[in-house]
Amino acid sequence: MNELKQSITDKLNSHEETQRQLAYIQKAGEYVRKLEQELGHKPTCCVTTFGCQMNARDSEKLSGILERAGYELIEDEDADFVIYNTCTVRDNANQRVYGRLGHLNSLKKKNPHKKIALCGCMMQEPSVIEKIRQSYRFVDLIFGTHNIYKFAELLVNMFEADGMVIDIWQDTDQIVEDLPVERKYPFKSGINIMFGCNNFCSYCIVPYVRGRERSRSPRDIIREIESLVADGVVEVMLLGQNVNSYGKNLEEPMTFAQLLREIEKIQGLKRIRFMTSHPKDLSDELIQVMKESTKICRHLHLPLQSGSSRILNAMNRRYTKEQYLALAEKIRREIPDISITTDIIVGFPGEEPADVDETIDVIQKVQYDNAFTFIYSKRTGTPAAAMENQVPEEVVKEGFDRVLKVVQDTARERVSRLQGQTMEALVEEVNEQDASLLTGRLSNNTIVHFKGDKKLIGQIVPVYLKECHGFYYLGEAVK
Ligand code: SAH
Ligand code: SF4
Ligand code: F3S
Repeated sequence: MNELKQSITDKLNSHEETQRQLAYIQKAGEYVRKLEQELGHKPTCCVTTFGCQMNARDSEKLSGILERAGYELIEDEDADFVIYNTCTVRDNANQRVYGRLGHLNSLKKKNPHKKIALCGCMMQEPSVIEKIRQSYRFVDLIFGTHNIYKFAELLVNMFEADGMVIDIWQDTDQIVEDLPVERKYPFKSGINIMFGCNNFCSYCIVPYVRGRERSRSPRDIIREIESLVADGVVEVMLLGQNVNSYGKNLEEPMTFAQLLREIEKIQGLKRIRFMTSHPKDLSDELIQVMKESTKICRHLHLPLQSGSSRILNAMNRRYTKEQYLALAEKIRREIPDISITTDIIVGFPGEEPADVDETIDVIQKVQYDNAFTFIYSKRTGTPAAAMENQVPEEVVKEGFDRVLKVVQDTARERVSRLQGQTMEALVEEVNEQDASLLTGRLSNNTIVHFKGDKKLIGQIVPVYLKECHGFYYLGEAVK
């Protein structure tokens, strides 16, 4: 079959699959109504998300289907149905899930109607499934990352089955469009532009649990954003493990920068963000588009991982310290008001204090607005897990503390550069600690808290940046 025909067939299949799943939502709805009669109230459901923005977006898709099937969504694990959308990027993410499952079991003993489902990245690991099958027998449904679009069908299977339903796929090339989604925020939304990852950084489990890289068609992306904007969205976050390689596997290849140019044209859309950019694929064309854009936010998350070229090579990152520094310098030269943030791993196999010094050197040179620093976590099945020179815990801890201190000092200095300026903030929510304050986000991703009426939520308003407190500001609304 030639490529065009293949693509038309895929589209038809995708459309048919959407129709099938919509029918399953109806069917699941019948079970939910029956349950409602037994319970005497509308069944409640709680989706708990672990991990990154991809997972957060997936949870919105699960929520959309649950709501359509008749569940009331709540944020309380006492709910009649609890779903954990899991992450496995570091071992502590897995441990948190196991820890909390024990608590869910005790809740389930009190509520015989309670159902528990597990999905997400952790479920793609065979050893996890084995452990749950043996030690967590009270779980009702388990599925993975590749068949999440079949959630409605799986729900029906769960209602019809006696024991645990498990459905895990090794991979998929399907992208199913147009299923319901329930957004967390009415005014902003994540959008998947691609799925999976082909980079195989040697420490990372994501390519194994999320499969190969697949880009969505630009038409589907634009259509989704247009309908979100019509529904009140002003800010979008384009999501992919490596957005800079967007479009390479489309039948009509397109670059990420070209996609951004198209998205920029959408009327009514005010802000565009994206995550994550791999330094090896960041093009001059992208820098140019960002520079010329009035909608793309002044923020770039550019994961460094390590400042040592020797470690970067062992990590399979495919850039050197010098290349990274040159790239950061070019970005700052072209877009001076941009904030750069990063991810850093300390304790990769073979890392020595001198390598950590190199990482610190990069932090000081680049002047990040924020950096997420992680202790290396050994992930079974990745090349780094088999490396013999694992670093002793005390050495890792010492390096981690050194890096963290420099990150905090440089970020405080860097973020404070804006003190005394007035900048536009998108008001996101009422402050969790102090209900008299609102929390807003600047274009450069810095957070500002200020007094104001919650009617402003969802609006972009000017805020005077009065006092810098490390990574955030206290400000005042400008009348
Ligand atoms: N695709 C993104 C990152 C996704 S994972 C990118 O390439 O930038 C988010 C972050 O988790 C990574 O940037 C890395 O810093 C961290 N991470 C991934 N695997 C890890 C591991 N095994 N141990 C510690 N941190 C890890
Ligand atoms: Fe993991 Fe590297 Fe892919 Fe990011 S680019 S998801 S760190 S393998
Ligand atoms: Fe975690 Fe999966 Fe994201 S492993 S970081 S939730 S892609």
